[in-house]
Amino acid sequence: MSTIPSRGGRFAEGPARTAAEYTQSQSFDRTLCFHDIIASKAHARMLGRVGVVAPEEADAIIEGLDRVREEIASGRFVWRPELEDVHMNVEARLTELVGDAGRKLHTGRSRNDQVGLTFRLFVADRIAAWQGLALDLCETLMRQAESHRDTILPGCTHLQPAQPVALAHHLLAYAFMLRRDVDRLGDAARRTRVSPLGAAALGGTTYPLDPLQVAKDVGFDGICDNSMDAVSDRDFVLEACFCAATVMTHLSRLCEELVLWSNPAFGFVTVSDAFSTGSSIMPQKRNPDVAELMRGKTGRALGALTAMFTVMKGLPMTYNRDMQEDKEAFLDADRTVATSLGVMAGMMEGVVFHADRMAAACDAGYIDATELADHLVGKGMPFRQAHHATGALVALAESRGVPLKGLTPEELRSVAPCIEPGELAGVLDCATAVRRRETPGGTGPLSVARQLETLRTWVAETRRRLPKPIA
Ligand code: ARG
Repeated sequence: MSTIPSRGGRFAEGPARTAAEYTQSQSFDRTLCFHDIIASKAHARMLGRVGVVAPEEADAIIEGLDRVREEIASGRFVWRPELEDVHMNVEARLTELVGDAGRKLHTGRSRNDQVGLTFRLFVADRIAAWQGLALDLCETLMRQAESHRDTILPGCTHLQPAQPVALAHHLLAYAFMLRRDVDRLGDAARRTRVSPLGAAALGGTTYPLDPLQVAKDVGFDGICDNSMDAVSDRDFVLEACFCAATVMTHLSRLCEELVLWSNPAFGFVTVSDAFSTGSSIMPQKRNPDVAELMRGKTGRALGALTAMFTVMKGLPMTYNRDMQEDKEAFLDADRTVATSLGVMAGMMEGVVFHADRMAAACDAGYIDATELADHLVGKGMPFRQAHHATGALVALAESRGVPLKGLTPEELRSVAPCIEPGELAGVLDCATAVRRRETPGGTGPLSVARQLETLRTWVAETRRRLPKPIA
């Protein structure tokens, strides 16, 4: 007879060694142990309250689980691979410690709803941790933006110089991406923080359980309405992986700009020594490896999302062992997004921006052309015509190798006769161009100040509402 609890009296033999190794999850789902114990304690408390186990038995289970927790925390716990997963390992040790009461813990419960609750608790904690880290990065970006309100660089579209923008504005674009990420995570958390307990294997249970009590006990907002859905839903993992992939995609864009901007051809930034690497052969090199690697690691988060979609697609009702694959996918996405957010905050804190190089770059690429076109519109010329005339002036200036400012009054009038000598003096100026863009969300200083204020209020409010980790 097999000595593995899940095989009970049913099996004459143990599993093949290769099968046991292939199917075990304890080597990675032990990360979930503290959440599993919290869920089990809530289940035991409820079993005691509704009278399915005696109050003393519930107490014994809870005390035993605390001792198991203590053993794991202190490193004394002996993990047994043959017990498959974290759930069986914890329960087996509990039973060793408290005897028969431990054998009653699993009453009215299946590993199917148990793993659902344990993983939901874990994912909810990680979502809150990611939110906290994203808020930290947001604040770092806001600090840099604050000290670069007056730094101007060429804003690009198609990676071609387009119009001058404030560096603060450029940095805050990333802060607002992160705000959406944090909001999105909060939304995903709302659907994660629902307890599947009471579903048991798939159809509910005959014991008079009170699943809502368990949900409240672990700090969740409610319970699943359908037991079959409860044990087979992994949307919460999909959503968390989607959020992780989106965060990483945003970070990868910032990484790309750091890589480009630290190339001496741009020379816009110096990434600090602490976040740069050298070359084993070229002594002059200063490589932005951290930013590159982060850009590369984006693939992991997207990989986790793709893996989870692939695992879930076409699965019949209800729990299927395929779903165990959710752990490694999520844990990898978790490690990736959490470390990346932290590292990016450290890197951005120390990035030095070179305002002089940015200003010099503003002199190339005719990024003041829109100003000229708008100026002509101000003089009554229809925009399309102004666009055409300015284009012709840019072509003329380019052929002479001068900026628009360098065109003579005669050259200007040859294309746009309405331009009086000297009248463009204050127009073709990047600082003025930035200052004049005060539409909501624009790059003008008042708009940037409003953006900072909006973010400050939001960060403070969001931090206050962030749930504390339960384990
Ligand atoms: N370790 C499994 C998982 O992570 C949970 C156990 C459910 N297994 C089962 N045979 N019912 O999905």
